[in-house]
Amino acid sequence: MRHLLTLEDLSRADITHLLDRAEAFRALGQQRDLLAGRTVLNLFFENSTRTRTSFEIAARRLGADVVNFDVSRSSTAKGESLLDTLHTLEAMRLDALVVRHNENRLPDYLAEHARSDVAVINAGDGHRAHPTQGLLDALTIRQRRADFEKLTIVICGDIRHSRVARSDVHAFAALGAKDIRLCAPHALLPEDTGEFRGCAVTEDFDSALDGADVVIMLRIQKERMTAALPQADEDYFTQYGLDARRLAFAKPGCMVLHPGPINRGVEIAGDVADGAQSRILDQVANGVSVRMAVLAELLASRA
Ligand code: NCD
Repeated sequence: MRHLLTLEDLSRADITHLLDRAEAFRALGQQRDLLAGRTVLNLFFENSTRTRTSFEIAARRLGADVVNFDVSRSSTAKGESLLDTLHTLEAMRLDALVVRHNENRLPDYLAEHARSDVAVINAGDGHRAHPTQGLLDALTIRQRRADFEKLTIVICGDIRHSRVARSDVHAFAALGAKDIRLCAPHALLPEDTGEFRGCAVTEDFDSALDGADVVIMLRIQKERMTAALPQADEDYFTQYGLDARRLAFAKPGCMVLHPGPINRGVEIAGDVADGAQSRILDQVANGVSVRMAVLAELLASRA
């Protein structure tokens, strides 16, 4: 593996290997000699709390130096092209570039033009992919239920604009999941359901939850929408919000996941987010281990 841009081309064995490696790092805590002397650059053109911070913590726990490039204060704000920025940063000798951008496939474009000794890691591009989130969601589920073939997994919310939903589906399908249900109001369903081949699609959340082992809630990504949703937030919550009453339609002990940031009272009730079935903070913790695994995989074997 030279870069990590999407999970689409990873096999079950590749994903299992990364998750096993993440588990090993979780047990180990840190391994500061592994990437000592390496430099990881976080290049985030979109806001982030969890992803940027956990890449930074992961890199430091492996002994790498981390630079957080401040896009808003950089020369890209003075009109410097992305490729000029890339080559400028590369000239300072870096080993990995962690990129988040609102354009689909921008990380692939940088990977095509990057020096052969630089690994590009996609930390979320447009609505297309968020591979480390897909991996950490798979790890969070696998810690309690490794039998993906038998799981019913519901993803509810703004599927249309969600790179998380896309990478989750790639990871879960590769691991053998057969019953993945996507649920959203029409305006938030994907325009091209071909992208989600094999998934059931519904606008009825109550019936989607019937028999669910896992439910993943997604935020409405208003920043990616061109038109306002027909519903007000309160009406959205009534139809698509996960509250305790609705969670009871799922199997007892159904896991509740959310990639964050959560909007309490819009897509999820506060007591469910904080409740016994919530795995949201496990996801955050697993994010560090997964990112350690990805950085180690891409960088440790290189000269
Ligand atoms: C998500 C993202 O940025 O794609 N968050 C994350 O990385 N944990 C989802 C979101 O912004 O709603």
